[in-house]
Amino acid sequence: MIKVVYDINIYREALKNIIKPDDTVVELGCHVGNSTKIISELAPHGKIIAIDNSPESTESMEKLMDTYKNVEFHKADVRLHETLEYVIKKIKSCDVLSVDLGGGYHPDTTFKVFFIWSSSLKPRQTIIRNRGILDFIHSTSTVETIKSEYGWLESSSRDGVPPRLKEFTLWSSKIK
Ligand SMILES: C[S@@+](CC[C@H](N)C(=O)[O-])C[C@H]1O[C@@H](n2cnc3c(N)ncnc32)[C@H](O)[C@@H]1O
Repeated sequence: MIKVVYDINIYREALKNIIKPDDTVVELGCHVGNSTKIISELAPHGKIIAIDNSPESTESMEKLMDTYKNVEFHKADVRLHETLEYVIKKIKSCDVLSVDLGGGYHPDTTFKVFFIWSSSLKPRQTIIRNRGILDFIHSTSTVETIKSEYGWLESSSRDGVPPRLKEFTLWSSKIK
């Protein structure tokens, strides 16, 4: 399932319904770890990989890792292929993917990050915090139903996984 929210409190409440004790969670946009703590407590037997590229994150996340032993912080840009590669090498599978690059952050970038990471990690569940995507969902109408049961888009699963995704060449110098 793919859940889309905007309000930070709804986001944190939703995490409680989604995360199970053994889950491996990839959190994109952890900032100073306020939700990472919640995730860590919800998955005491699991693993959390939290990523952010903000200079503000490092000190707080390093302190947080002293207490929350199942959290690993990585300072990196989630738009880069090497960041995804780094995470894929660290974990065997991903149960939950969280994408919060900022509630008001560019929906196009947020969607692309969601699409590439979820197509690669194939999580059971994804949660995205973004106002523009939520607005888009409620502002569209359609007569066709194409729907996914997991945290990634099954209809695009054949062409969405890097390096087959041609657009990925714009993001990474590693794919020619
Ligand atoms: C609203 S904050 C996240 C709040 C956090 N999820 C929480 O619940 O407390 C958004 C974060 O996304 C990070 N971010 C935005 N674009 C990013 C990118 N391309 N790579 C890594 N982090 C990014 C920002 O640095 C910022 O810390």
